[in-house]
Amino acid sequence: MSKNIIFSGMQPSGVPHIGNYFGAIKNWADLQDDYNCLYCIVDLHAITIRQDPAELHKNSLNALALYIAAGLDPDKNILYIQSHYKGHTELSWLLSCFSYMGELGRMTQYKDKSANNPDNINLGLFAYPTLQAADILLFGSHLVPIGDDQKQHLELTRDIATRFNNIYGDIFTIPEVFTPKTGARIKRLSDPEKKMSKSDGEANYVAILDPADVVMKKFKRAVTDSDTEIRHDPENKPGVSSLLEIYAVATGTSIKSAEADFDGKQYGFLKTTVAQAVIDNVTNPIQEKYNDLIKNPDYLHQVAKKNAEKAAEIGEPILTNVKKAIGLLL
Ligand code: TRP
Repeated sequence: MSKNIIFSGMQPSGVPHIGNYFGAIKNWADLQDDYNCLYCIVDLHAITIRQDPAELHKNSLNALALYIAAGLDPDKNILYIQSHYKGHTELSWLLSCFSYMGELGRMTQYKDKSANNPDNINLGLFAYPTLQAADILLFGSHLVPIGDDQKQHLELTRDIATRFNNIYGDIFTIPEVFTPKTGARIKRLSDPEKKMSKSDGEANYVAILDPADVVMKKFKRAVTDSDTEIRHDPENKPGVSSLLEIYAVATGTSIKSAEADFDGKQYGFLKTTVAQAVIDNVTNPIQEKYNDLIKNPDYLHQVAKKNAEKAAEIGEPILTNVKKAIGLLL
C-alpha cells in the first residue's frame, strides 16, 4: 500500500506566527513517516497581487529556509517552489475549463482581495482557486491541512474534481481537510477569545521571526483580566488561560503543571515567563537555523530543484491521465 498524500501551500511572503507554528507546522514533522507530504511555496498565487520582483525573489528562497528552520526536513518532505514544476499551470488551464464563473465569483477571498486592490482585479486573481485546485489535484492529494479561511477553496476543489470525475471517470482523488490530532489553537494576544491571526494587526500575533525584544513586548501587552489569580479557565479568564496554554505547548508540559508553576505568582511574571519560554524554545532556535540556512543559497536552490523533481514524479502520471481522459492527443 502506498502512503496517502498530504498537500499544503504557503504564500512566500507570509512569515508564520506562533499560532501557525503550534497549530500546524510543528505537527507536520510527525506526519512525514506516515504520509507523502508536499509543501509548496506558492509564488504563482502570490503574483495575483502585484509584487516587487526583487522582494518576491528573495521571499521565495527565504520561505524555503524558514520552513526548513521550523522543522520540515526537506529530505523527508517534498518542500518546493510552485513555479519550479510546470504541472501546476498546465493542470490549472485544464481545470479552468471545468470551473464556473459563478462559483469563482462567489469566493470570499476573491471578493476581499478585489475590494482591497480595485486597480488590479486581474484574471489570475479570479482564477486563483482553480490554480489552488490544480495544486491539490495534481498529486492525488488525500488530505489538505488548511485554516478556516481556505475551507471554501477546498470545497471548490472538491466540486471541480467531482464534476470532472462525473464526466470522465475516476481520475481525481477527492481531497479532505486535514485536522491534526495534536494541533493547539493559539489565541490572539489582545483578543484572547479569537484564534491568532494576522488580520487584526501586529500586536495580536507573534511572528516566528520576531526578535526577542519584540516577542517580550508583545506578551507584556497581552490582555489578561482585573482579577489576580492564575488558573486555566477559558470561559471566565480567556487571556490568562491562553497564556497558560502557550506556556504549556512551548515548554512541552501539561496545562496542570503550567498552572502549578504559576501558583501564587502575578500576571507580570506570567507574561514575561511565557514570553521567555517562547523565545527560548521557539523563536530563537528557529531564527538561529534560519540565519544559517540563508547564508547558503546554493544549498537552498539545490533543495528546491531536487524537490520540484520529486513533485513532478508524482504529478506527471496524473497529468497524463487527465489529458488522456479529456482526449488530448499524446
Ligand atoms: N491559498 C492558500 C493561502 O492563501 C495557499 C495555497 C495555495 C494552498 N495552494 C494551496 C493551501 C493548496 C492548501 C492547498 O493560504
